[in-house]
Amino acid sequence: MIISKRPRRLRSSEGIRSMMRENTLSPQDMIAPLFVMEGKGRREEIPSMPDQYRLTLDELSKEVKDLWSLGIRAVSLFPAIDEHKKNSKASEALNPHGLNQWAIKEVKATVPEMLVMSDVALDPYSSDGHDGLVDPKTGEILNDETMEILAQMALVQAEAGSDIIGPSDMMDGRVGFIREALEKAGYKNTMIMAYTAKYASAFYGPFRDALQSAPKKGDKKSYQMDPSNVREALREARLDEDEGADILMVKPGLPYLDVISELRRQTHLPIAAYNVSGEYAMVKAAHLRGWLDENKVMLEMLTSFKRAGADMILTYFAKDAARFLNH
Ligand code: PBG
Repeated sequence: MIISKRPRRLRSSEGIRSMMRENTLSPQDMIAPLFVMEGKGRREEIPSMPDQYRLTLDELSKEVKDLWSLGIRAVSLFPAIDEHKKNSKASEALNPHGLNQWAIKEVKATVPEMLVMSDVALDPYSSDGHDGLVDPKTGEILNDETMEILAQMALVQAEAGSDIIGPSDMMDGRVGFIREALEKAGYKNTMIMAYTAKYASAFYGPFRDALQSAPKKGDKKSYQMDPSNVREALREARLDEDEGADILMVKPGLPYLDVISELRRQTHLPIAAYNVSGEYAMVKAAHLRGWLDENKVMLEMLTSFKRAGADMILTYFAKDAARFLNH
């Protein structure tokens, strides 16, 4: 048979396959989200996220050393705040001596070159479990009233040494508001990674277990995006870019690869994908049942983000993937 064009020629050995490879994954592409809690010498496994832990600060320090030695260059911190410290104003978020700020300092003291990303949203600190203030009469999530707290949070975190502020709250105008506050306070090099297209997703379930931060009433649909929309993501991206974001993020990752590739075409800013808790839990659950090969699925999944156009990936697989890639 004469078949002049045979794509299989270019797949016939690992040598040619490796030259043909359009996208690669390395430890430096990944940001490891880490959960922290009060106390000493303890790590508590999160039931819906096997192999992920809430860490006390001394354990955080060990984890960060491990990650650094594996080639991971950034972590994103999420504090599990004690229930009695939560209130409707999320005031613990602004405590310069709060857990989150200690965690930032701990990472910087352990490995100064490790980039620290910190989260700006009220939910871990709010007795209502919402990312913004809640109107006690109507239940509305108050946009403008939340803004001042978000900006103060960003300043407290920048002061503690955070390199990257991650507003995950989806309030309108917050990137610009935070940027202005940082500029005025002299934090000219503090980056903002905007949660640009953050969808109202059921894939955040395990994360909310980890922080016990699920909304007490209602859902997040009046601020997080409708999973059916993509043009709306482009609009959010333009706004975040205009307001001074340094990096744009799409979240969740896997069900929104089309949004990543669409954004890739529309912006010159770097793009991050957040491979969220539910995406992690699905793979772990299937692996524990012997239904799929965890490592292979993990690498395929992470590579799909690069192929879609993401420059970096927030993923609970960071450590496992780095280990695998280093071998
Ligand atoms: C909260 C926040 C959430 C996540 C990151 N920041 C949950 C939410 O919006 O309810 C989810 C991350 C994950 O699922 O891995 N502002």
